[in-house]
Amino acid sequence: MNKTVVIYESKYGHTKHYAQWLSEALDCRLFERKNFRPQDFEKYEVILYGGGLYAGGVSGIKLLTQNWSLLSDKKVILFTCGLADPADPVNAAHIRKALTKVLSAEMMKSIKLFHLRGGIDYSRLNLVHKTMMSMLRRMLLKKNDSELNSEARQILATYGQKIDFTDRASLQPIINYCRQ
Ligand SMILES: Cc1cc2nc3c(=O)[nH]c(=O)nc-3n(C[C@H](O)[C@H](O)[C@H](O)COP(=O)(O)O)c2cc1C
Repeated sequence: MNKTVVIYESKYGHTKHYAQWLSEALDCRLFERKNFRPQDFEKYEVILYGGGLYAGGVSGIKLLTQNWSLLSDKKVILFTCGLADPADPVNAAHIRKALTKVLSAEMMKSIKLFHLRGGIDYSRLNLVHKTMMSMLRRMLLKKNDSELNSEARQILATYGQKIDFTDRASLQPIINYCRQ
């Protein structure tokens, strides 16, 4: 049996796409987080967890943090999926900093992190998410241009639109790492 598993939580499908591509490439099982039972972690040696970024937090990351005792001796990979371009070191550092608030120092040391780029379709956002994005936009518009980082500029430039940056090729480093 393949001892690798991909688990994900995705609200609008971007992380789901990446998770599906990964499970195809690694020829392993795929679970949506709500369908995965933590007691099944013992069946696997390599665990990939992916979640969308929402206000800096990773969707469903409690699956890892609350079950760390079942995971600490395994190869654990966390991939985030967000709108900000993770190729920009400032954005990557920002995501990492937010992760340190939920992952212990031990988790940060043993979990291999990857950041992927998703997308957004404002017409599909639920009311809470629409309101959050609208508030964020209003807050950003009050700032001077020089105060805006690339993530903020991206949000303002694409506000209200549908954009999709998902890129299958960006998974290659994760696939290589799992095969090591
Ligand atoms: C309310 C809200 C908050 C978000 N916060 C972030 C964020 O902090 N960082 C980021 O890079 N993207 C953020 N995004 C963009 C999502 O991470 C992006 O849409 C991602 O592709 C979602 O993945 P999913 O469709 O799998 O849930 C946010 C989107 C919404 C609607």
